[in-house]
Amino acid sequence: MKRKINVGMLGTKFMGKAHSHALKDVSIFFDLDVEPVMKTLCGSGDHSDLGDLAEKYGWEKWTSDWREVINDPEIDAVAILTPGHLHKEMAIAAAERGKHIICEKPLGNSLAETKEMLEAVQINKVIHMTNFNYRKVPAVTLAKKLVDEGRLGEIIHFKAVYQQDWVVDSDWVWRFDKKQAGSGSMSDKGSHIIDLARFLVGEMTEIVADSKIFFGSKPVAGTLERKPVTTDDTCTFLTRFANGAMGLFMTSRVSTGHKNFLSFEITGTKGSVIFNLERLNELAVFLKDEERSVQGFRTVLATEPSHEYVRNMWPTGHTIGWEHTFIFQYYEFLKGISENKNPSPNFLDGVKAQEIIDAALKSVEEKRWIKI
Ligand SMILES: NC(=O)c1ccc[n+]([C@@H]2O[C@H](COP(=O)([O-])OP(=O)(O)OC[C@H]3O[C@@H](n4cnc5c(N)ncnc54)[C@H](O)[C@@H]3O)[C@@H](O)[C@H]2O)c1
Repeated sequence: MKRKINVGMLGTKFMGKAHSHALKDVSIFFDLDVEPVMKTLCGSGDHSDLGDLAEKYGWEKWTSDWREVINDPEIDAVAILTPGHLHKEMAIAAAERGKHIICEKPLGNSLAETKEMLEAVQINKVIHMTNFNYRKVPAVTLAKKLVDEGRLGEIIHFKAVYQQDWVVDSDWVWRFDKKQAGSGSMSDKGSHIIDLARFLVGEMTEIVADSKIFFGSKPVAGTLERKPVTTDDTCTFLTRFANGAMGLFMTSRVSTGHKNFLSFEITGTKGSVIFNLERLNELAVFLKDEERSVQGFRTVLATEPSHEYVRNMWPTGHTIGWEHTFIFQYYEFLKGISENKNPSPNFLDGVKAQEIIDAALKSVEEKRWIKI
């Protein structure tokens, strides 16, 4: 019989739904030595629908007190899916009670916070993961393979944007409060593309950044009140990589027309690739070693069974969706628990991403290049 891993989930809304779905389905697609059990779902006190949600998502129990989950000796692993200012306290408490942890990005709201979190999981020897789920998109892993095999040659540019537009029409939400959310588009969207840059190209050594708040206040839903916005709407930054490549980045939550446009382009001396999350099964590939008269970017459908995750899904050409990246993350997290080996990306990656975010914020403040 498989060892049962009792999971507690802190956070019920957007990520609560995505993670519940992944936990429910992971064993359908992947053969694991452990069996996840959806034990307790936890949301904040303002939830009147917690019981209904828990039942709908497939959780055995629910509570509005996160400490109850962390203190429950039955719970083996915790998913932290709350606003950023709560991650540190929750993760340290969970680690001290020996719970394995998967935590949403950005790992914390500052480098100091994330370092404390890393120390706690290391001291308490629990398995840890940061949910930079876009590393697991098969087209992204294909890009990584082409870079690692040298098919693109020496990397010259990494260009990435992560653009959304929901802020333009939004009422005030916790994401507009620096204390709860960190820096805004820089940490929210930026953490994902920074992690992809590290994953695909390597470490960055210096950064110069600029950011701006376009909407200084937002209406509070159902009232005549407006609350200030203290998080950036958009940020642009340039970086240098340790391997000599140059980086060009933009994050925005006010890019009218763009819904979830995460796109990157890697340019090398022998070839280039272009990825767009809104077409996540595809990778545009240009290889200079192809016969010149037929050279050009071509669209590769990344659904071949040669991809580690996709071969567990459907037959070739049967595409996957955004939600499946969470299933792949849970596969790695549970495998990590079963093999007592940290999966990737883990809290160290969360710290490294935060190091760059903090450097970007310092650069905005001091209007100069900052060494990382
Ligand atoms: N990986 C991704 O693609 C991705 C996408 C969106 C959000 N996120 C990250 O996930 C996290 C959550 O974002 P979201 O969009 O799901 O937010 P959300 O506002 O939809 O949900 C926040 C959840 O936190 C819960 N919560 C708040 N305070 C709590 C408390 N004291 N105790 C227990 N629960 C509490 C709320 O009940 C709610 O269920 C953030 O860190 C965010 O950056 C990641």
